[in-house]
Amino acid sequence: MTGSRGQKPGGEICEIHPARLRGLFKTSMLGRVVFLLDSTRSTNDVATAAAGAGAPEGTLVLADVQTAGRGRKGRRWFSKGGRSLVFSLILRPLEKGGGLTILIALSAARVLERYHEGMRIKWPNDIYCGGFKLGGILAEAKGGAVVMGVGLNVNEEPGDLAGEIRSEAVSLKCLTGEHVDRGELLAAVIEEFENDYFQWKKGGLARFRGEVEDRLLYIDEAVRLEIGETIVRGKCVGITEEGALRMQTDDGERIVTSGDLRVEGR
Ligand code: BTN
Repeated sequence: MTGSRGQKPGGEICEIHPARLRGLFKTSMLGRVVFLLDSTRSTNDVATAAAGAGAPEGTLVLADVQTAGRGRKGRRWFSKGGRSLVFSLILRPLEKGGGLTILIALSAARVLERYHEGMRIKWPNDIYCGGFKLGGILAEAKGGAVVMGVGLNVNEEPGDLAGEIRSEAVSLKCLTGEHVDRGELLAAVIEEFENDYFQWKKGGLARFRGEVEDRLLYIDEAVRLEIGETIVRGKCVGITEEGALRMQTDDGERIVTSGDLRVEGR
């Protein structure tokens, strides 16, 4: 991928300069309104507030630094200024239909596959490659809007990802050995997701189900799903048209809508 980089006033090379992003975005709805922040606690918090104040569907909140990024279940999301990609999109889906989290994971995985093969979706919201976590999605709904928060490890060096909490993490640069242009990656992800979202609006997750299952981490493997104190054991057999997980257990098929998935024995 090629492309010129924008300049920040200080002369610092900035791949996510607003003027540059305007040129890179080929979307008709996503990213037409952009809040670009040097630093914020959480782009999801900013997007939720903006949605409450009437920001239009497609509004993108992008930050270089996130000081209190959030993951699922109250976990923290660590990112590195200048290296990670952290952003949130405001959607206003009128239809109920589920599966938006896994849909954006699929869109992102397809784009990431252009850089490195073997992208997998770990139900319900993670992107993995080679057994390591490359990205995560945090979807939050409030007052008719859904905020889709996306965190991707892009140009982190191994040292940026070290430490207990990040021991499962990998970045695109660690995988490819090459610097990745975050502006181009962002533009590609939102373009891919916009196309998928428009399809989803017409027919839900049904037409994406096979593609998600082809990329599903642990498909056909014995897994353990932890739902709080409860543990469900079985084989991961796929997803439903709402994005729930289908597990084959000793008591028959079980459909689960939340939980942490682990492969048995690890
Ligand atoms: C997870 O792995 O549990 C989901 C991580 C989601 C992180 C993204 S980064 C952008 C957006 N803002 C946040 O505070 N969280 C999401």
